[in-house]
Amino acid sequence: MANQEDIFKKVISHAKEYGYIFPSSEIYDGLSAVYDYAQNGVELKKNLREYWWKAMVQLHENIVGIDAAIFMHPTTWKASGHVDAFNDPLIDNKDSKKRYRADTLVEDYVAKIEDKIEKEVAKAQKRFGEAFDKEQFLSTNPKVIEYKERAEAILHRLGKSLEREDLADVKALIEELEIVCPISGTKNWTEVKQFNLMFGTKLGATSEGAMDLYLRPETAQGIFVNFSNVQKTGRMKIPFGIAQTGKAFRNEIVARQFIFRMREFEQMEMQFFIKPGTQQEWYDHWKKTRLAWHLSLGLGAENYRFHDHEKLAHYADAACDIEFRFPFGFKELEGIHSRTDFDLSNHEKYSGKKLQYFDPDENRSYVPYVLETSVGLDRLFLAIFSHSLQEEALEGGETRTVLRLPFVLAPTKVAVLPLVKKDGLPEIALDIFNDLRFDFNVAYDEKDAVGRRYRRQDAVGTPFCITVDHQTKEDNTVTIRHRDTMEQQRVPISALRELILKEVDMNQWLRKLRLEN
Ligand code: GAP
Repeated sequence: MANQEDIFKKVISHAKEYGYIFPSSEIYDGLSAVYDYAQNGVELKKNLREYWWKAMVQLHENIVGIDAAIFMHPTTWKASGHVDAFNDPLIDNKDSKKRYRADTLVEDYVAKIEDKIEKEVAKAQKRFGEAFDKEQFLSTNPKVIEYKERAEAILHRLGKSLEREDLADVKALIEELEIVCPISGTKNWTEVKQFNLMFGTKLGATSEGAMDLYLRPETAQGIFVNFSNVQKTGRMKIPFGIAQTGKAFRNEIVARQFIFRMREFEQMEMQFFIKPGTQQEWYDHWKKTRLAWHLSLGLGAENYRFHDHEKLAHYADAACDIEFRFPFGFKELEGIHSRTDFDLSNHEKYSGKKLQYFDPDENRSYVPYVLETSVGLDRLFLAIFSHSLQEEALEGGETRTVLRLPFVLAPTKVAVLPLVKKDGLPEIALDIFNDLRFDFNVAYDEKDAVGRRYRRQDAVGTPFCITVDHQTKEDNTVTIRHRDTMEQQRVPISALRELILKEVDMNQWLRKLRLEN
């Protein structure tokens, strides 16, 4: 079986070969941790954004969307706490001269302990077969309990040290765990230092008159500063939400793992404004609702888990991540944060403007509390793309590469293929292509043998292939081939649209999501 590193390499090369993601400015040898979305990638990303937007905005009568500017008044970032507290702890290895996030070094160490637990589970599963009870094993096996306690103790200490800004203790922990630099293999570390992640830039034509700005490190602040504008013009009543998708920028110390951690990325965030004191109820609600959204994409419940934060961000009183099983292990996909009244109160303080809500039921004004859901679009893309890419063994020793994207997200929904490039078949195929393209993205392909064309569409993730053959000329029927099963059905041309729509239409997926929750 291929190891995780090989699988991940395959994901990256497939993304490039099939027009999903290119390194940025590749002709100049690229730019570290910056990527461009290619012709298929942009469609998949757009579909993901739309699926999120419809589920969050269109289907919630009390959530509206905005699109705020990337540039914001610099005081925004003072008020939000980002100037003072948006730091990562960094550490350098003196021998390799490589820079790391100190907390990530410790977390990677803990991930290895978690791998050991998974190995124990796999071993026991093999030994006990059908009778295996995983929950019982996890809570009673002495070795597993020891691993779990050790992992928890390390994370707890890391969380507490970071909270106290005790960077000397973070270094002490790295030394006690005997963590070595993956490049030099040595423990020759510098002290741990704080590093602010915001990118600075200047606004204005002359150097004297220029204003120092930051590229926004989260989209959330564009929502907070517009709280009153939206509430008043939209006549919104609490509880209500404001959603936004857009670019965010962070000067990550270690940007790596392809599009998992980038310096320029896109977030899809929703701030839900609530009555103070109701935050626990809404925290539970949004955890459940967001997990259900992820699960609706059909990648399997076993690939998601919640992870409660030990170290809370400067604005939160409770926070957790929805983690996904990436090819390099379980990692954060989305954050659910109870942000209290931190942001609105601070913007009130710094701007001198009231950011309050008059509650007619209580006949008083207050600064609302906020429940935030925040998912990285690129990270979501990686989760879905890497999970969907599969090598499948076929009968006769052959293998096929298939990108089993959820149909609703696939860039191209159907490919129309004439069996041969003659006998009037391309003309019929083009008629079908020109008709269906009003409903979905359709590809037309007449080059190479039909088997090779099927493989090409499998690899790019197209759910259906329609083949026009000689029988089509006699009875106006075609074959429709299903990507996942490779089964073919003969159907009348007139039935194609409905048949495909039933499977790929976003509205159907949203209805199902709503019905199940
Ligand atoms: N407004 C809250 C906020 O920004 P966060 O946990 O820092 O919270 C939210 O970020 C989500 O944004 C993460 O769960 C992740 O999906 C995505 N994200 C954060 N940093 C990223 C990066 N450097 N590259 C790609 N995605 C990132």
